[in-house]
Amino acid sequence: MSVPGPAVELRAATADDAREVDRVICAAFGAEDPVEADKVAGLWTDVRASGHLLAEVVAVDGDRVVGHVGVSRCWIDARRALLDAAMLSPLSTVPDAQGRGIGTALVAAAVGAARELGGPAIFLQGSPTFYGRRGFDRASDHGFEAPSRRTPDAAFQVVVLDGFEDWMTGRVVYPEVWWRHDAAGLRDPDLAFLEDLFAREHPPT
Ligand SMILES: CC(C)(COP(=O)(O)OP(=O)(O)OC[C@H]1O[C@@H](n2cnc3c(N)ncnc32)[C@H](O)[C@@H]1OP(=O)(O)O)[C@@H](O)C(=O)NCCC(=O)NCCS
Repeated sequence: MSVPGPAVELRAATADDAREVDRVICAAFGAEDPVEADKVAGLWTDVRASGHLLAEVVAVDGDRVVGHVGVSRCWIDARRALLDAAMLSPLSTVPDAQGRGIGTALVAAAVGAARELGGPAIFLQGSPTFYGRRGFDRASDHGFEAPSRRTPDAAFQVVVLDGFEDWMTGRVVYPEVWWRHDAAGLRDPDLAFLEDLFAREHPPT
């Protein structure tokens, strides 16, 4: 897939891209918070090693990796069965390549990868403004609960896929690696800050 701007292509990441992906995640998240950037990069390295990786796509500008998205496994704890599902995280574009549609193309690629896997849904935690414009809905509107009450309702979002049936709702469960990194939700003071922000910008539907 190509994206707006000169010579940017999306392709599946390979094992050889691991170091570049790490650099891209650190550059993207580190622009605001270097400590958070290290945490996200460390989490992603461990998700990759955990056996729960489903897809990984990089955006390449010439021979430079400028963007990355990861898709990994979670589950829906439905009444009838525990179901495999997908989650999108992390999403990164290096600062000097932002605003060119790369993030949007990577989100589309992640949803496309999840769709090809045939599961019921792809989830994420993130900005409702950014992801809402890119096809994601509030997950609670579809009967899904976040893995932790520490995820603001407006931030927990979903794209329901072709494999979904009406009974496939319930709590979403994250693999152990997310808990080991304490990444299944937010903690105060960030949690309280975002809850206040979302209550104003994205009131309950
Ligand atoms: C969010 C991010 C991936 C977007 O990448 P990009 O290549 O600039 O994306 P695009 O060019 O397709 O789209 C730009 C959009 O990103 C929005 N954006 C940039 N930073 C954002 C942020 N921190 N939160 C929400 N939206 C953001 C812009 O407002 C613009 O939105 P609009 O087109 O709906 O008006 C990039 O800014 C980034 O890597 N940020 C740091 C890491 C991060 O926050 N990742 C997402 C975690 S949920």
